[in-house]
Amino acid sequence: MAKQESWPLLEAENLSVTFPAGGGWGRARRVVHAVNQVSLAISPGETLGLVGESGSGKSTLGRALLQLERPASGEVRFDGMRITHGLRSDVARLRQQTAMIFQDPFSSLNPRQTIGESIAEVLRVHRKVPTENIAGRVDELLTLVGLSPMQAASKPGQLSGGQCQRAGIARALAIEPRLIVADECVAALDVSIQGQIINLLMSLREKMGLAILFIAHDLAIVRHLCDRVAVMYLGRIVEQGPSETVFSHPRHPYTAALVAAIPEIDPDKPLPAQPLGGEPPSPIAIPAGCAFHPRCPYAQAQCCTGAPPQTRHVADHSWTCVLAHAGEETVFPLTGGVLNEAQAR
Ligand SMILES: Nc1ncnc2c1ncn2[C@@H]1O[C@H](COP(=O)(O)OP(=O)(O)OP(=O)(O)O)[C@@H](O)[C@H]1O
Ligand code: SF4
Ligand SMILES: [Mg+2]
Repeated sequence: MAKQESWPLLEAENLSVTFPAGGGWGRARRVVHAVNQVSLAISPGETLGLVGESGSGKSTLGRALLQLERPASGEVRFDGMRITHGLRSDVARLRQQTAMIFQDPFSSLNPRQTIGESIAEVLRVHRKVPTENIAGRVDELLTLVGLSPMQAASKPGQLSGGQCQRAGIARALAIEPRLIVADECVAALDVSIQGQIINLLMSLREKMGLAILFIAHDLAIVRHLCDRVAVMYLGRIVEQGPSETVFSHPRHPYTAALVAAIPEIDPDKPLPAQPLGGEPPSPIAIPAGCAFHPRCPYAQAQCCTGAPPQTRHVADHSWTCVLAHAGEETVFPLTGGVLNEAQAR
C-alpha cells in the first residue's frame, strides 16, 4: 500500500446534496436526498473505496467532492482550503489537481478526436507543458498507462474497452492530479481487463502518490485495492474504516450483509449476517430513525423513530448503529431478528 501522509488532502463535513423531485407544491415540494450529512477524509496517496447499492448516492457524492454538483449544505476542503462557498481561485485549484474516471470509457472520450488529440487538449487547456513538448508528453502518458505511442492516432472506436479506459486514465493523468475519483471505472470491462486496470491504478498510486476515491459495487475489488472503505446507504455513510477491519469485522448489519455476499469470502469464517432482502426505500421519503430499519433483521423499537443513531468510533473505525459489540467480535444477534436485550444499548 502507498505510504500515507497524516493530514487529509480532501475533507467533507456534513455534506448534503438534494435534487428536486417531481410532484408537490410550495413547502410540500418533494426532494431527493441523494447525499445526507456525509463526513469523510482522504489522505494523500490513500485509496478510499466507496460502496453501496445502486442509488445510494455514491456518484453524487463523488461529483459533489469535486464541485461538479452543488451541495445543499456542508463543507468540502481540499488541501486545507474551503472549496464550498469558497473563492473561485480555490475551485480552480481543485479542478487543476483532481480528475474523474468514468464507467463508460467510450463516452468519456470524444469519438471524433484521436486519443492523442484528446490528451493534448487537456495539456493545452491546463498549460501543463510548452506547446513544443505536448506530443512528447502525450507519448509519455500513453506509455505510462500501457498503451503504445502509435495509438495516439487511433480514435476511440478503433480501440477495445480496456484500451479506451487506459486512454481515459492517461487523459485524467495529463493534469497531474493529486486525487482521482474513479466512478465504477472497471464495471463495464471483462474480468481479465478489470484486473489489468486495477493493477495499473495500484502502480500509478505507488509511482505518483495519487489519492483515489474508488467507487464500486464490487466489494472483492475494493477489499483488494483500497486502504479504507466507506459504506453508503440512502445517502449516508453508515460505516467507514480500514478495509481489513471493515471486511473482517463489519459493525453495521448492512455492511455485514454486503460482505457476506462477496463470493470469495472465506467459507470457514461465515459472517453472521442475513442475506439482504428487499430494495432500499426511496431517497425522497427516507425512513425515520435508522434508515436501514425496514430491512434490518435486528431492528428494534428505538431504531424506527427519531433521529438516526449516534455514530460510534473505535480508533479509525466508525459506524452508525445501536447494536453493541464485544471487543473484536461482531455480535449480531442470531435469533432471527429477535434482539437479545443485553446486546443493545
Ligand atoms: N440529476 C439528478 N436529478 C434527480 N435525482 C438524481 C439526479 N442524480 C442522481 N439522482 C438521484 O439521487 C440518488 C443517488 O444517485 P447516484 O447516482 O448518486 O447513486 P449511485 O450510488 O451512484 O448509484 P449507481 O450505483 O446506480 O451508480 C438516486 O436516487 C438518483 O435517482
Ligand atoms: S440501528 Fe437498528 S435498524 Fe439500524 S442497522 Fe442498527 S440494529 Fe439495524
Ligand atoms: Mg453511480
